[in-house]
Amino acid sequence: MDIRLRGLEMKAFFDRKTEGYDDVHIAFMGSKTALTDALKEMYAPGTPIKVLDLGAGTGLELIPLFEAYPEASVTAADISEDMLSALMHRPFADRVTCVIGDFFETDPGCDYDAVISTSALHHFPPEDKVTLYRKVFAAMKPGAVFLNADKCADNAEEQRLCLEEYAENPEKYAHMDTPLTVECECDVLRQAGFDGKEVRPLPNAKYNLFTAVKPE
Ligand SMILES: C[S@@+](CC[C@H](N)C(=O)[O-])C[C@H]1O[C@@H](n2cnc3c(N)ncnc32)[C@H](O)[C@@H]1O
Repeated sequence: MDIRLRGLEMKAFFDRKTEGYDDVHIAFMGSKTALTDALKEMYAPGTPIKVLDLGAGTGLELIPLFEAYPEASVTAADISEDMLSALMHRPFADRVTCVIGDFFETDPGCDYDAVISTSALHHFPPEDKVTLYRKVFAAMKPGAVFLNADKCADNAEEQRLCLEEYAENPEKYAHMDTPLTVECECDVLRQAGFDGKEVRPLPNAKYNLFTAVKPE
């Protein structure tokens, strides 16, 4: 898979979809709120945490986050400038810094207390995810948490078929999901150096919340 091409496809797709995005994705709000619920288990509400949001889009998951952590500072990483422009119209925009570009090419910053992501990382094969998660790992403080609420494949066969189908004809499937199984995702996290992995099913079909901690 050409990971750079994948990013450009995502940009074109989400730039086109920005208008009306929230109306569709409000149905996934349970998975987005789950990130803040999990953060509260690590950091008392009100703590001025420093957070990186991978694939922040229009920032739906940041609505509950800023309700619980009004003093948080968030770096919103996303390849779609249009999605980030929508985010920057939200009331908490003054606490958000944008990093525009491909996860694989941009510098996300460092010393994060938490890295969060939802609905944004189910398009990469395991080997590229290891590369990405090592980058995430390096951006975190020791003891910090990585929370990813995302779509998973039900089994290894589904994972293989999706990856194969996309690889055979990438231009045909501008936005085809290629999710990994829970087991594969946990293995990728382990290869990137994470500890203390926990997986919880989420209310949206095929979604799980992965909690992984950077060792102290
Ligand atoms: C389905 S949206 C999720 C947005 C938001 N997290 C939410 O849950 O509403 C996925 C986001 O990931 C971004 N994205 C996908 N692949 C990317 C990549 N390779 N680099 C940076 N951003 C990417 C897209 O531009 C899009 O805004």
